[in-house]
Formats: sequence, C-alpha cells, structure tokens
Amino acid sequence: MPAIVIAIANQKGGVGKTTTAVNLAACVASTGTNVLMIDMDPQANATSGLGLEKKSGASIYGVLLGQEDINSIIQHTDYDNLDIIPSEVDLCGAEMELSKVENHLVRLRESIAPIKATDRYDLIIIDCGPSLNVLTLNVFAAADHLVVPLQCEYYALEGISMITRVLNQIRESGVNPDLDLLGVIMTMFDGRTRLSRQVVEEVRNHFADRVFETNIPRTTRLAEAPSFGQPIIYYDPYSAGAAAYEVLAQELLERLGLAERAPELDEVPPPPAFADFKAARETAAVVPISPAREGGFIVPPTPPLL
Ligand SMILES: Nc1ncnc2c1ncn2[C@@H]1O[C@H](COP(=O)(O)OP(=O)(O)OP(=O)(O)O)[C@@H](O)[C@H]1O
Ligand SMILES: [Mg+2]
Repeated sequence: MPAIVIAIANQKGGVGKTTTAVNLAACVASTGTNVLMIDMDPQANATSGLGLEKKSGASIYGVLLGQEDINSIIQHTDYDNLDIIPSEVDLCGAEMELSKVENHLVRLRESIAPIKATDRYDLIIIDCGPSLNVLTLNVFAAADHLVVPLQCEYYALEGISMITRVLNQIRESGVNPDLDLLGVIMTMFDGRTRLSRQVVEEVRNHFADRVFETNIPRTTRLAEAPSFGQPIIYYDPYSAGAAAYEVLAQELLERLGLAERAPELDEVPPPPAFADFKAARETAAVVPISPAREGGFIVPPTPPLL
C-alpha cells in the first residue's frame, strides 16, 4: 500500500506544529506503523526534537533540485519505526533556487514519489515552517491530507482562514485537487481558563467534526522534551502530554483507516479451563535448577489463584 502523506501546517508561528509533528510521529510509530518524518522548516526544530544534530548538507535541498537521491538522505532516529529526512538552515536557500527551476511547486511531490510508491512507510509526516512560502506550497502539493494545529488563543481563527483560502487555491489551480483537511488540532489547551474553552467551542462551531476530539494540554513537560531530543512518550511516558498525544495518534489512525481493529468480544480466546490451569500450575511448581546436581529442585512460590 502506498504511504499516506500528511502535512502539519499553519502559517502562524509557535502554534504547536512541530510539537505535534514530532509527538504524533513517535506515538504512531510506537504502534508498529512505519513513519517517515520530513522536516521542511529551515529552523529544523523537528530534527533536533527527534534527537538529531543539524548538519549542513543533510536536508532535502539537493533532492528538490534533482541533484541527490532521496534514499541517500533518509536517517534512522533512535526510535523504533521512525525515520527522518532532517532539515538545516541551508534549506532557506532552496527557496530561491526552487523559484528558478521548472515545475517548482511539485518538486517535493516528484522527489518523494519513489518512496511513497513502496510499502517501506505507512505514513509520511511533514512539518512545515511558519509561512506560506515555496517550501510550504511544495508540501501542500505533495500531501494527501492537511492537519492544522490551532493554539487555544483569541486569534486562533484568524490563522486558519488564510490556510483554508490557500487550500482552496491549491485544489482549484489543479496543483493538488485531492488535498483535504483531515483535521484541526487544538493545542496548548488550559481547561482552567474560560478563554481556552471558548476558543475550542468557537472552532468546533466552525469546523464541526473536522476538529479532533483530543485537545492537547499546555504542559511544561511538552515544552521541555525537545531540549532532550525526545518525544514526550519517551521523555515522560506517564505525563498528561504523553497521554494526549497517544490518544490523538489513535484518532489520527482511525481517520486514516490505519487503526488496528479492536477484537470483538467473541473473538477473544476463552480463558483456560480450570482443569488445564490446575495441571499447568502443578507442572510448573517443580523446576530443576541444575540438571547436574542430584535432587537440585526449587519450588517457586505458588501463583495466586485467578
Ligand atoms: N502543549 C504545549 N504545552 C506547552 N508548551 C508547548 C506546547 N506545544 C508547544 N509548546 C511550546 O511552544 C513553542 C512553540 O511550539 P512549536 O515549536 O511546536 O510551534 P510551531 O508552530 O512549530 O512553531 P514555528 O511556527 O516556529 O515552527 C515551543 O517552545 C514549544 O515547546
Ligand atoms: Mg515548528
């Protein structure tokens, strides 16, 4: 099955795009889904947030200009099922260079086509920078779905009006007629303030069920994790932020039709019959500790009855 490509975008800065991209990628990957993260922001926050150093020449720059093979720039992260194409500040230069080449809006789509077509990755998550520049337009042209994080603050809706305008332009211009808004994620939610609750309500009135049910809480642990190069599920697995991104990842997988179906009740194997259980317990009760030592047996503590 070809990989599904998701863009995490909002031209407003500091709304939680990178935090969401990094943590969703890690949570989804931890379920056994193969994920490739592409960092398309020259600030390279997703790169450092996943524990990689920003290195000159390591970004997708050369690939976009047709000078490098995409497979040569993919790197493993320290986390299972999670690879990355990192970014670094040189990617700023790609902006100007790209404007000079042919088909400059579809360079990313063409670049990732070879990996999208194979079954190496189930999901490709792209983190965008905070502007609607040529790099971001390339992401919109390459993506199947758009996910927009909105910060729970007064001006949240202003940010999204521009995104939806660009989304419509991209569709209507024929660059990517199938691009859809998969969902809006409310970030930095503080349930104690009326403002947060009002903003969520207003955004839900506007976007109805396009808004993900899971709100991401504002927590210091989420803000600290990137400085350790760790997604929150590894930095503080029992925190509220980790729980929120894990539930959000499930919601995302369900929306994409990639969630593992929970077994129906009649598919769950029945517990062992009591006789079997008793027999198993009696056999396990006496275990040789050393075959060489005559009579060397140990009786482990009796397990509690069910
Ligand atoms: N839920 C949260 N709770 C607390 N702090 C958060 C949360 N989400 C993000 N932050 C912090 O807010 C700041 C901005 O977040 P982030 O970098 O994810 O936003 P961004 O939209 O990617 O920004 P940019 O537009 O610059 O790329 C960071 O310092 C981040 O650690
Ligand atoms: Mg960012």
